[in-house]
Amino acid sequence: MPASVIVGMQWGDEGKGKVVDYLTRNADLVVRHQGGNNAGHTVVIDGKKTILHLLPSGILNEHSICVIGNGTVVDPSVLCTEIEHVEAAGHRCEGRLYISDCAHVIMPYHRLLDRLHEQARGKGKIGTTGRGIGPAYADKADRFGIRMADLVNPTRFREMLAACLSIKNRILVECLQADPMDADAIFEEYSRYAARLRPYVTDTVTLVHHALSDGKRVVFEGAQGTMLDIDHGTFPYVTSSSTIAGGVCSGAGVPPSQIKEVIGIVKAYTTRVGEGPFPTELKNELGELLRQEGQEFGATTGRPRRCGWLDCVQLRRAAAINGTTGIVLTKTDVLSKLQRLRICTAYQIDGKTFDVFPSDPELLNRAEPIYEDIEGWNQDIRSCRKREELPQKAEQYFRRIEELLGVPIYIISVGPGREETIACTEAYRIASS
Ligand code: GDP
Ligand code: IMO
Ligand code: MG
Repeated sequence: MPASVIVGMQWGDEGKGKVVDYLTRNADLVVRHQGGNNAGHTVVIDGKKTILHLLPSGILNEHSICVIGNGTVVDPSVLCTEIEHVEAAGHRCEGRLYISDCAHVIMPYHRLLDRLHEQARGKGKIGTTGRGIGPAYADKADRFGIRMADLVNPTRFREMLAACLSIKNRILVECLQADPMDADAIFEEYSRYAARLRPYVTDTVTLVHHALSDGKRVVFEGAQGTMLDIDHGTFPYVTSSSTIAGGVCSGAGVPPSQIKEVIGIVKAYTTRVGEGPFPTELKNELGELLRQEGQEFGATTGRPRRCGWLDCVQLRRAAAINGTTGIVLTKTDVLSKLQRLRICTAYQIDGKTFDVFPSDPELLNRAEPIYEDIEGWNQDIRSCRKREELPQKAEQYFRRIEELLGVPIYIISVGPGREETIACTEAYRIASS
């Protein structure tokens, strides 16, 4: 298996966790390269559900080495708890987990600022996960950030914390009418995390390069989705990192020439959590049916996800930006009860037909989807294990998606479980055996 990038093609929660677990059963290295604990990746093995926020989904496969790369933002308290949980479930982290010394640390003031900024935005709020992601990335860009290498060096950490807090406290008190934060209390708390995490902190760029030059199988696990990308998403209703396939290069220090395959994860319909445009959203009982059938409630915040039809205008944009070589279509079973399915093939905006996703949010807000109707298959498909076993009408829906995107389907997921998966090409039957 070449170096593969797993990327969310919509607004996140496409089922990346399940697919990474499925594909990494024989991968050597699984690397997170962006985002933080705003992610919630669900893996179901033998009926047991695990939700991972920061640890790569490969942590549940004993032989995989897991890397939290330089492009991520790490909340050390969340990471310590997550390590405890997976270790309690019998998964070893020591010798298998590596955290980049260059990854930025989420501080308590980032979480507080995330909340205060959202409050200040009022009706224009983004609907963030409240995990401090935006303020942590802002400090990185503003060169105020504290990195993992700083956290594990007590003298440096104390100095940097004091310098940061002197500015943050002025902003908190004078601009946002909040209470100041106490440097000693933060230092004491974060020193405990530093002691716990120190053994895992290293130069992960060299680690990944060695793995690649040794011919090891490396999987990059994307978080969020293309439409939440800081540059290419529906700004400002986005997250603060590069969620696209290209984000691997800066977020893990890997040259583009090393990426052989970009696997786009596509939910068979569309969901979104938080605010922002969503042309094919169903604000009716059909949307509610998808939410209930698909159990569309956030893995991180528990918020109900907004649901709608599959949007091929949006997906074509995602395929182009990511250079998607093939897709994994997930949650297909959720559509099994529907008599009629719809696929958005173009938008009508101000009387004009658009088959390209508009980057102007004003245009997107006025976009009316143009749909193609397809008959539903109306039967349970969860026990299908080969593409040939799928009902003909399901196959018609899947074929049409391949045609509209110009990208082949590598894998079809028919349920949350590891085994509820159809590998459509020989390469993926081998990759997952
Ligand atoms: P991620 O953030 O992309 O990893 O996705 P989440 O884990 O947040 O959300 C996907 C949800 O769908 C999880 O609850 C998965 O267990 C579940 N899931 C994944 N694939 C399938 C599938 O094919 N069918 C069904 N019914 N559920 C699935
Ligand atoms: P996974 O990896 C879905 C959304 C939030 C909000 C916006 C900004 O599980 O697919 P942030 O806290 O990042 O500043 O919030 O991005 N968001 C996600 N939506 N899945 C995710 O991750 C998300 N991570 C962030 O809901 O709209
Ligand atoms: Mg998720």
